[in-house]
Amino acid sequence: MAEHRSSAVFFCFEANLSPFSVAFAKKILSLPDNKNTNKMKGTILVTGGTGFIGSHTVVELQSVGYKVVIVDNLSNSKKEVVDGIEKISGIRPDFEEVDCTDFAKLEAVFAKYGNIDGIIHFAASKAVGESVQKPLLYYRNNIVSLINLLELMPKYGTKGIIFSSSCTVYGQPDPENLPVTEAAPIKKAESPYGNTKQVNEEIIQDYVHSGANVRAILLRYFNPIGSHPTSIIGEMPNGVPQNLIPYLTQTAIGIREQLSVFGDDYDTPDGSCIRDYIYVVDLAKAHVCAMARILENKQNEPVEIFNVGTGKGVSVLELINTFEKVTGVKLNYKIVGRRAGDIEKVWADPKKANEVLGWKAETSLEDTLASAWKWQLKLREEGIQ
Ligand SMILES: NC(=O)c1ccc[n+]([C@@H]2O[C@H](COP(=O)([O-])OP(=O)(O)OC[C@H]3O[C@@H](n4cnc5c(N)ncnc54)[C@H](O)[C@@H]3O)[C@@H](O)[C@H]2O)c1
Repeated sequence: MAEHRSSAVFFCFEANLSPFSVAFAKKILSLPDNKNTNKMKGTILVTGGTGFIGSHTVVELQSVGYKVVIVDNLSNSKKEVVDGIEKISGIRPDFEEVDCTDFAKLEAVFAKYGNIDGIIHFAASKAVGESVQKPLLYYRNNIVSLINLLELMPKYGTKGIIFSSSCTVYGQPDPENLPVTEAAPIKKAESPYGNTKQVNEEIIQDYVHSGANVRAILLRYFNPIGSHPTSIIGEMPNGVPQNLIPYLTQTAIGIREQLSVFGDDYDTPDGSCIRDYIYVVDLAKAHVCAMARILENKQNEPVEIFNVGTGKGVSVLELINTFEKVTGVKLNYKIVGRRAGDIEKVWADPKKANEVLGWKAETSLEDTLASAWKWQLKLREEGIQ
């Protein structure tokens, strides 16, 4: 596994952070640690900050000197994640157990911290299947949370928001649109969850273009996987995992009996579905680049959209083979029929993020899968899963 580097020097290249970054300066001038450099960067409210992507992002934000306030209702994460973040970065982020749909409590957080410069909004319900069963829960949670934040931003002088969107907005791109760029048409959402992403993107566009003094970056994630190289934080699904990687690692360790591969008769080289798997730490760093872009007034438009992916499509069978090769563990899997609603193939054209945002995914699939396995072993060691 490549050594984890938390310096701001090697990501947000070209555009956003001065090469003479906090981390770089610390390295060559022995400046004091992050606790004393927080003042240089500002305060970021991270909703959903104890969740999978949020926790990794908090670590990266702190590593370049931001002060972080986490708001999370712990509906899909644990408070102990805050301890994990502190263990990794040496800094304890502020934590508020608040539901983003509760306007009064959310406003109290803005009032308490006074100077929230930017928001990264991860908090959402995210299980596609559950969203079909409980659409109103998804619409209320995912949409009301965003509206509350947007309403509070101008009142408290918060400059910008980064929104967790998803490649799900592209549906199955037409063949001529693969790899998919940000300009590809938005397809009708396949689930209420997917629809909340589309509607939230539209709400942000409408609000910013109404003249509100707010800026935004919409990051369309492809498939985030892996865990922090320290194995102190990682993906912690409740119950039966909805995503491939936790299901795969739980099968490899014996919690699940068998992994089902849904379909081997798709129009792909080996017949299984193709996705763009992005290492969660690389994804976290994209948020740091985006936040710098907002706070340093570098945006070309008040709402910018970036695909966050590797640019490489990997099939489910390739992923399994790579996992087996990297870990030496034989996976018990079976090919079954296609699953309704699955997209055949989608992967990102990340050129805009590479060239404009100044960010690039740099971790190999091998290292990423090794990190996911290390995390699963750690969970077993601790008797958690
Ligand atoms: N993981 C993926 O595959 C993926 C892909 C594309 C987009 N996204 C989006 O990225 C974001 C983060 O995803 P994740 O995988 O880290 O999910 P996660 O469930 O691990 O994290 C979300 C966090 O938000 C919290 N939360 C939910 N509703 C809340 C509310 N009303 N108020 C306060 N906290 C609330 C949960 O407790 C959890 O800690 C989500 O918006 C998700 O839709 C995820």
